[in-house]
Amino acid sequence: MSLGWTLFIAFLTALNILGCVWLIWYTSRRRKDEPETTGHVWDEDIREYNKPLPRWWVNLFYLTIAFSIGYLIWYPGVGGFAGLSGWTSAAEHEAERARQEARFLERFGRYAEMPIPEIARSPEAMRFGAALFANHCAMCHGSDARGAPGFPNLRDGHWQWGGSPEAILHTIVHGREGLMPGFAAALGSESAVSEVAVYVQSLAGLRVDPALAAAGRQRYQLICAACHGPEGRGNPLIGAPDLTAGAFTHGASFDAIRKTIAEGRHGIMPPQGPVLGELRARILAAYVWGLNPPEAGGVAAGALP
Ligand code: HEC
Ligand code: HEC
Repeated sequence: MSLGWTLFIAFLTALNILGCVWLIWYTSRRRKDEPETTGHVWDEDIREYNKPLPRWWVNLFYLTIAFSIGYLIWYPGVGGFAGLSGWTSAAEHEAERARQEARFLERFGRYAEMPIPEIARSPEAMRFGAALFANHCAMCHGSDARGAPGFPNLRDGHWQWGGSPEAILHTIVHGREGLMPGFAAALGSESAVSEVAVYVQSLAGLRVDPALAAAGRQRYQLICAACHGPEGRGNPLIGAPDLTAGAFTHGASFDAIRKTIAEGRHGIMPPQGPVLGELRARILAAYVWGLNPPEAGGVAAGALP
């Protein structure tokens, strides 16, 4: 804060305090002559005196003012003046955070070295994982981790970026960015887009018009196979989803698939490492991994704790 502001605030504060002192002094003066009345009269002869407050009461007011001056000297309050105590809210917050972190490490520190699948078998760690998930992930992936349009389901055993414990940890710490460009122009026509969409449906196991699917398959092999693979099984290195899984993050309807193909998709998972730190991210990776069925590598933690 600049010196000008500090002086301005100090001046206003001093003015206020002096004003208070003056007000108390002025209203509590003892008047020597006839007692002053307020002018109110009841029952013809009962008059209301305007008497000063009792001395002890007035002194209490002076004490509070003295206290406030001491307070403003001890704590920061007057502009840029830091106070003699050196107290700051930031330092207090930091100390509290360090205390919480020490308690956290004391309780969960042993998970830092434990393999992630083993963490997933600890009920204590999983309860903590569930709380972390509710705080940091549920707003995008849903409180049950089943995702939402544009946000992947994290418990169906299908992974864009790989479902090994290490891949999940990497996703959480560093984030991911999946980018599929739109192919409306490359495909050239509405009907070409539709044909490829039909083929994608057939990859996902739907019964479709075989002639349309065959036409779509040719275009798919030309344009899409580079990323999604010749059999549509995807590529976790670039986050290209497995199209045979039938688990569409961006919608499984014919129109949604057409839109994906024509306009592209761009999903961003923001990095959580800076917020969570390595240990919390590890516990979350175990939690997310554990939500998946055993055949997909998880332990099927079942219902969320
Ligand atoms: C450059 C690589 C690349 C090419 C080429 C590509 N895709 Fe994709 N595709 C991706 C990526 C990456 C995603 C995931 C986007 C995201 O993360 O939001 C994706 C997503 C999709 C999805 C959505 C899946 C879901 O879960 O909802 C469909 C459907 C799809 N692609 C079909 C196709 C088809 C059909 C073609 C060919 C016309 C094609 N892609 C070409 C990389 C590619
Ligand atoms: C701001 C929204 C948002 C938040 C918050 C978020 N995610 Fe994500 N997450 C996404 C999106 C979007 C994707 C898909 C990225 C892509 O298209 O490549 C994703 C992808 C993922 C994946 C990869 C899924 C796969 O199929 O490979 C995992 C694992 C994941 N998130 C876990 C988490 C966890 C755990 C948290 C909490 C720490 C979290 N996410 C918080 C939006 C979010």
